Amino acid sequence: MKGLKDRVALVTGATGLLGSAIATRLAAEQATVVIASRDSSKAEQWVQRQEKTSGRYLPVQLDLASEPSIRTCLDRIVEQAGVPTIIVANASLREGVGVPFEKLTHDSFTNLFEVDIAGHVLLLRHSVDRLAGQPASIVFLSSIYGQAGVDHRIYPEGMLPTPVQYAAVKAAAEGATRWLAALWGERGVRVNALVPGGVASAQRQSQEFVKRYSEKTMLRRMATAEEVASAAAFLASDEASYITGHCLVVDGGLTAW
Ligand SMILES: NC(=O)c1ccc[n+]([C@@H]2O[C@H](COP(=O)([O-])OP(=O)(O)OC[C@H]3O[C@@H](n4cnc5c(N)ncnc54)[C@H](OP(=O)(O)O)[C@@H]3O)[C@@H](O)[C@H]2O)c1
Repeated sequence: MKGLKDRVALVTGATGLLGSAIATRLAAEQATVVIASRDSSKAEQWVQRQEKTSGRYLPVQLDLASEPSIRTCLDRIVEQAGVPTIIVANASLREGVGVPFEKLTHDSFTNLFEVDIAGHVLLLRHSVDRLAGQPASIVFLSSIYGQAGVDHRIYPEGMLPTPVQYAAVKAAAEGATRWLAALWGERGVRVNALVPGGVASAQRQSQEFVKRYSEKTMLRRMATAEEVASAAAFLASDEASYITGHCLVVDGGLTAW
């Protein structure tokens, strides 16, 4: 894809399911990819596992719940690789979020917004401050549940439906995407959201759930992480040079019936 080679791309939550796929795809396009995790040894081990590939990676520690961590992380990236001109705001807090609605606490909401929205928006602001006029592209990971309701009927007994605060934080990510795109457009900084549907993962979903979810999509299946990564790479690349403030839905048609 045009415009990814030799760029410095920061992927938050890069050791997770989609983060890993996005990071390896950007590296395959010859970007230098910064692998951010709250746990520096996890990021380092992730990079070590890629040693048989030709990808260029820099592992870094980043806790989006802490502004000092955000600043320190960016300083380290600038020093060791250069200013990131691609940022994939992919991390999302899982701990304490998957609680039944009846047991919802205030903290469960605020902790998620603190990491996913406040953390990422501050990371983006501090990053754009360091760009010194260079163009950049930002991809915010949303979800179909930021746009469409959760069908509680497809969750088998014992599986928690996607929680309310997750739907709310993803709608917020799309609002932030448009707001930042409007602010930074004249500086050549594009900001888009990627809106995936459910990604298949044997560790996370039962066969029954996969079957019920798949029936709701036009393609009759869940996404692969690689399919979402392709769309992320496209939005980050110069192939999408006139696309900003956009929310690209990658959901096998689930929300298009
Ligand atoms: N999987 C899906 O089906 C799906 C569908 C639609 C949208 N999405 C969205 O796509 C993104 C990736 O999803 P995923 O399923 O790949 O998630 P995941 O595997 O749970 O990975 C998310 C990562 O976020 C990082 N993280 C959590 N709290 C953090 C903090 N305070 N600071 C920095 N990083 C933090 C964690 O990394 P460390 O533990 O290494 O810090 C974690 O690996 C999310 O935004 C999710 O909402 C996913």
